Formats: sequence, structure tokens, C-alpha cells
Amino acid sequence: METEWVSTGGPYVEDFEKNIASYVKCAGAVSCQNGTSGLHISLLLTGVTADDAVIVPTLTFIAAVNPVKYIGATPVFMDCDDSLCMDPVKLERFCKEECTLGNGKLIEKASGKHIKTLVVVHVFGNMADMEAIMNIARRYNLKVVEDATEAIGTYYTSGEYKGRYAGTIGDLGVLSFNGNKIITTGGGGMILSNNADYLRHAKHLTTQAKSDELYYTHDEIGFNYRMTNLQAALGLAQLEQLEDFIAVKNANYETYKRELSGCKGIQLLSVRDDIRSNRWFYALYFDGCKLNRDEMIKHLSGNKIQSRPIWGLISDQLPYVGSRTYKIEKAKQYWESVVNVPCSTNLSQEDVKYVCSVIKEAIG
Ligand SMILES: Cc1ncc(COP(=O)(O)O)c(C=O)c1O
Repeated sequence: METEWVSTGGPYVEDFEKNIASYVKCAGAVSCQNGTSGLHISLLLTGVTADDAVIVPTLTFIAAVNPVKYIGATPVFMDCDDSLCMDPVKLERFCKEECTLGNGKLIEKASGKHIKTLVVVHVFGNMADMEAIMNIARRYNLKVVEDATEAIGTYYTSGEYKGRYAGTIGDLGVLSFNGNKIITTGGGGMILSNNADYLRHAKHLTTQAKSDELYYTHDEIGFNYRMTNLQAALGLAQLEQLEDFIAVKNANYETYKRELSGCKGIQLLSVRDDIRSNRWFYALYFDGCKLNRDEMIKHLSGNKIQSRPIWGLISDQLPYVGSRTYKIEKAKQYWESVVNVPCSTNLSQEDVKYVCSVIKEAIG
């Protein structure tokens, strides 16, 4: 603030971009105002136009899908598997049975629309099955945008993508530094890619597509999406603490697991075996429990503990009613049965044990 470089100019923005790229081990990163704007730009970079359809998940936060509508394109909603992320088996079946592939173009039979891109979300810090999804994407000529807004720090520990971080496997990835994420810049986001053309174009589009600094010439429609120097300064300080925050998230996860292990009908959802997860959110799955989802939320609230159901399915939200969906089954089941319990990094082990004791008291 003393240097007066408070806006989108100033050295911290580039420093933050470089440090994030180095942390997630990818070729480069371009800052933006939030994860939503990063997803908007990523869809544009993969060539999505108003005439196209885009494959998206239904079980996620609505910001993962709204950018499809910003462009005027059409979402096609996919189901999740037990990782809560996109089900690759259904994805493949959809491409095979509901689309045609000719001249490198995947066309949805029902609408005749070209599908160029799919958006995959790494839900709650878990990782989607990227091996399967990337294979399908290659076969059907789809670009992959990874919404890694909830999964900064999650990476594969084995398999084809060993060592690869969420957001760096597809064509483009997006991070969020919203206040509810593991690290925050108040609000902010980052576009990740290993493709130099995408990175250059992302920077251009996020900075009003100015092609000449002095004469203010603009060669396409750009956006005022760049992060400010103030946000980036905060981000640099937060990034230094990220691994410590992830350690707390993991320790608290283990406490939940231990404390709730004997609870009949409540299962603490886990993550894929072959990843190190940032454990952003803790999700309890209710199946055959004395209390259902809503009763437990009410009981916790009565004890001054905030909890909430997983997001309502996007394909059921008013602006999306009537959209194309493909065999949505598991997502419905998780919507009806999941309760998210406190997960902030400032929770102590005692806090977590208290939450568990209130849950146990309710089910006797
Ligand atoms: C899955 C998902 N996508 C997109 C976003 C949007 O990120 P932002 O709030 O930074 O715009 C969020 C979180 O806020 C999210 O959870």
C-alpha cells in the first residue's frame, strides 16, 4: 500500500503467479479475479462458442457451470461416481452412445451441437479419475478444463500421473482463493496450463486484450479479470502456509475418522487411494442412521455447530431446468445423504472431538 501499487500492476502479481506455478509444478499460471472468471477464460481458450455444448458435472458448486452460460453455450450434465467427481464410465458411454465422432468433431446426436470441452471438478479436495478421463478426452477429441478450485495441493502419488497436481493434468486448470478455500486472497483465482499459447492468451484476455500499451489498441474483447497487487501480496504470504494448513486438514480428518468410527449409519467419505489430498471439506454419508441428513443438521445447529448438505444438483436449479442430463443417479443419492461438517484450519482437535461428541449424542 505504501508503494501505491494497489491495483493490477505491481510486482506481487507476477511473483504470486510464478510461485503458484512452481508449487503445482506446471509451466505457468495467470492470475484472475476469482475461480469463476478463470473458468470463463478457460472455456473461451478451448474454443467454446455459443453454438457448442459443454460436458459438466451436476454435483458441484454452480460456479463451475455458470461460465458455460456466460458464453451462451449449452451444458450437458454428467453424474458422479463414489469419489463425488465425474463418472468416467458414464462419460464414455455418453460419448459413445449419444454422440457421433467424425472429422475430429464430437457431435451430440440429440442437439446436433459440437462438444469441444469438458469441465471436471475435483470435489472437496479429492481428485477425479484423471487417467480414465484424459483417455476418453483423447479418444473423443475433447479439451479438458480442470476445476481445481477446491483442490489446491492435491496430487497423485502413483500411477500415470504420479506427482501431478490437481489442475495441471488437463489442458487448463483453475484455482480459487476465495475466503472459504484453504488459502485465500480475499477473492482471487489462477489459471494453470502447460501450454504456452494458452498462458499468453489467458493473460491477454484477463487484461482487456490490450495489444499496445501506449496507444491502447485492443484486438479482441477482453475482460478486467486480473488479480490486484494487494490480493497477490496476501496470496504470497498465504502460500507459505499452505502445507501447514493441509497438515491440519489431514490431522482433523483423522480425528473425525477415529471418533466417528463406531457410528452406525454414518460414514466419513474418503478420497482416492492414489492421491495426497488437501482434505478441504469433510463429508459424512448418512445411510441407515437413526437421524437423517436434515435431522442431523438441525441437531448440530441446536448445539451451535454449523453444518450443511452438499450442493443442490445444478441440473435441478431454476436456470438449468430442462437442460440435457445423462443418467443422473449417484449425484441424487449423495445430495440426499451428505452432511458437511466443520473443516476450517483454525479448528483444534478438541473442537473436532466436540463436534463428534454432539453427533454421537444424537444417535445414542
Ligand atoms: C467447484 C467450484 N467451482 C468454482 C468455484 C468458484 O470460485 P470463486 O468463488 O473463486 O469464483 C468454487 C468456489 O467458490 C467451487 O467450489
